[in-house]
Amino acid sequence: MEVWILFNEEIESSSAEAFEVRRFLSEGKEMGIDVKVFHPEQFDLLVDDENKDTILIDGKPTPLPDFVLPRCYVIDSGYFSLAVVRQLERMGVRIFNDSASIEMVSDKMHTHQALAESNIPTPTTMLAKFPIDIDLVERHIGFPIVVKTLLGVNGTGVFLIDNHDSFADLMSLIEQTSPNIQLIFQKYIAMSHGRDLRLFVVDGEVVASMERRANDGGFKANYTQGAKVVQFNPDEEAREIAIRTAEILNLQVAGIDLLYDQNGYTVCEANSFPGFKGLESCTKVNIPQAIFKAMQQRIGAEYADQNVTALAANDVAKIAS
Ligand SMILES: Nc1ncnc2c1ncn2[C@@H]1O[C@H](COP(=O)(O)OP(=O)(O)O)[C@@H](O)[C@H]1O
Ligand SMILES: [Mg+2]
Repeated sequence: MEVWILFNEEIESSSAEAFEVRRFLSEGKEMGIDVKVFHPEQFDLLVDDENKDTILIDGKPTPLPDFVLPRCYVIDSGYFSLAVVRQLERMGVRIFNDSASIEMVSDKMHTHQALAESNIPTPTTMLAKFPIDIDLVERHIGFPIVVKTLLGVNGTGVFLIDNHDSFADLMSLIEQTSPNIQLIFQKYIAMSHGRDLRLFVVDGEVVASMERRANDGGFKANYTQGAKVVQFNPDEEAREIAIRTAEILNLQVAGIDLLYDQNGYTVCEANSFPGFKGLESCTKVNIPQAIFKAMQQRIGAEYADQNVTALAANDVAKIAS
């Protein structure tokens, strides 16, 4: 099996993302899988209706792999990276996860819209419309309130605003300085203050989970913000919500984050290329291996299907003769 990882940093960089890509490379070696890492900029996208077997990498036609695993923010890194993912999937390459799903989960509003449509519990969420009608926001969501940038990651664009006056001040600042910014307002789930759950889902199964606990008394439990992580055994309800969330968002590799709620759990967000450095440190689960195995199973199932079809055709031929 040949797997291409799309990554837009130096592999030797000290970031968690680069560490994780190196984990894929070493685990691939152990499993006899040919893993190659490409920067999206190495591709050239040439669309024609004849060639479905190769794609240009560093200017050279290169045969397509069995699987592609995007491991970078293809949205942030611009139109080009997303177009690379689209081209690969249009050429029929299997991909964990596809471009439409990556786009959907990078947009927090779109994610909550899709989940609410399918009756998955999510905090009440509202898209900001300037000028902000503060009374309307207070009536529907109330204070304290969580304010998030639409496309934020790693907790950097998430704020807890205590009351009407602070909210009014912040909104007038934003209106004057960045009137084009997209924000969402969300009900603050007090029970989950500084704590959340990360369930890692691979092709319909929860393979590892952890609880994240903020170290600084703050309300955000992002690992990248220094939260402590501990292994967690999710109950049936948490598992079911995570698996259904991944299914609805069409994510085969997903980090589903749950908040504790009075009625059980509510979905905070979904990640389409979830980090796993923290998760592996507290669970001992081998995440790259779980992902590669799921890919192998997919391919195996396709071959089995083809054999069944071939056998059935054989039977028909026999009956006919
Ligand atoms: N509605 C909420 N109520 C309580 N805590 C929240 C809420 N939304 C987010 N948080 C906390 O803030 C963290 C970051 O929010 P999140 O939406 O996951 O943004 P990011 O994509 O930047 O990680 C979460 O992990 C959670 O601990
Ligand atoms: Mg998050």
